[in-house]
Amino acid sequence: MTTYSLLLLPGDGIGPEVMAETRRIVEWTAAATGVTFEIDEDLVGGCAYDAHGEPVTDATMEKALAADAVLFGAVGGPKWDGVGYDHRPEGGLLRLRKELALFANLRPAICYPALADSSSLKQDVVEGLDILIVRELTGGVYFGEPKTITDLGNGQKRAIDTQVYDTFEIERISAVAFDLARTRSNKVTSMEKRNVMKSGVLWNDVVSETHKRGYEDVELDHMLADAGGMQLVRWPKQFDVIVTDNLFGDMLSDVAAMLTGSLGMLPSASLGAPDPKTGRRKAMYEPVHGSAPDIAGTGKANPIAMIASFAMCLRYSFQMTDVADRVEQAIASALEAGARTTDIAKPGEAALTTTEMGDAVLAALESNAA
Ligand code: IPM
Ligand code: MG
Repeated sequence: MTTYSLLLLPGDGIGPEVMAETRRIVEWTAAATGVTFEIDEDLVGGCAYDAHGEPVTDATMEKALAADAVLFGAVGGPKWDGVGYDHRPEGGLLRLRKELALFANLRPAICYPALADSSSLKQDVVEGLDILIVRELTGGVYFGEPKTITDLGNGQKRAIDTQVYDTFEIERISAVAFDLARTRSNKVTSMEKRNVMKSGVLWNDVVSETHKRGYEDVELDHMLADAGGMQLVRWPKQFDVIVTDNLFGDMLSDVAAMLTGSLGMLPSASLGAPDPKTGRRKAMYEPVHGSAPDIAGTGKANPIAMIASFAMCLRYSFQMTDVADRVEQAIASALEAGARTTDIAKPGEAALTTTEMGDAVLAALESNAA
């Protein structure tokens, strides 16, 4: 019998609410397939800081390193605004990404047909949209040193962040993008700022080299990241896979999320390199939306991004492609049947609570299975 270990890190804000609905989908999957999920749950972010004085403890890190996959909710909120930079809730997330070496962040933006009119863009611009942002996640300005604020002694301070990329980091993320493109529409657009950044010059060269060395069957385009942002809102369907660095990927994926109607819809997978012995990748799955402290505890959160993140977990960590398809199909069916949380409801339209949306997805799973 197959057993997988899953570490759940619900975190702060709406994290625990959306995780609770996802846990029901995990239980449904176990019952439907006979696979056993050994579930452990722990603290991360502000709640971990409150309990232990740090946003993720060494003990939690050990569990994350040992688990077959981690499901992560969200971290942060105004409660911790006064916490120093070294202990801020987001530090827990960044430590997980770095120490698990999750360099490849996959952020698919799919516009479900039922939501084509919920986007702030015109329906024909987003209808049928299916793009994948591949964001480098363990390098760049997020982690580059020096990263300091220095007092210059003359009433001025100087802040420094450092954007660093080595060849191997660009090679491996572009290989992930090319490999994924082959399973889709076979097109990669690489985005950087080679017109002002040395890291952009190297990024562009290495992506082109990697392409030449083994991926010439895949169509490759290069775009400056600012123009890419503009093209994403002008005509997003021109893209298939976008590969970009950590900071541009952060921004462009929020833009892509809104094309789909709501930030509450976008899942993500963060993957490490395959283990040379077992072939298994370390992996963490998290919704792209944050902790949304303004709606936390009100039952308004949309659990779809978290549930769809679990579907990505089934696909990429457990090779349970059929079940992943079924979960994604159930989300589409629930939306088709009119299920809407506040973020995707039209003005005046009745909205479901977080739990009711969980019910709707489960009901769709049951009826699609029957
Ligand atoms: C994301 C988030 C994080 C990031 C924050 C919470 C540190 O915005 O996953 O996109 O900047 O990567
Ligand atoms: Mg972000």
